[in-house]
Amino acid sequence: MTEHELAGGPGQGERFITCAKVSDLADGSMVGVTVEGRQILIGRMGGDFYAMDAVCSHLSGYLPKGRLEKGVVTCPVHGAQFDITTGRVVKNVGMSIRMATRREATDLKTYKVKVVGDEVLVAVNR
Ligand code: FES
Repeated sequence: MTEHELAGGPGQGERFITCAKVSDLADGSMVGVTVEGRQILIGRMGGDFYAMDAVCSHLSGYLPKGRLEKGVVTCPVHGAQFDITTGRVVKNVGMSIRMATRREATDLKTYKVKVVGDEVLVAVNR
């Protein structure tokens, strides 16, 4: 992975790391990457790229193994759904699963994304 310092404006000094290639991500697809110990999902919708946590907040399902449809990522384990643009839960696990596991999904962290040439860069905090 390549590290870039992009200065200027809000977020000055953020560190962007190359995580994927534009040419490797078809429209509507997603991939999971590990950046400095964090598992991050990168998804493509048309010409736009988004990044959020790759691990489900319910019981750690690996979201890149799920589905991405119309901007919504569905967890492959119990079906919680997250908006890839905001990380917000749009559909939580069903009541029976909530009762059995005593947990529900919560919103996920999202990350800023920049595209430079064929590289998809994700901002990581210092
Ligand atoms: S682990 Fe994702 S919905 Fe349960």
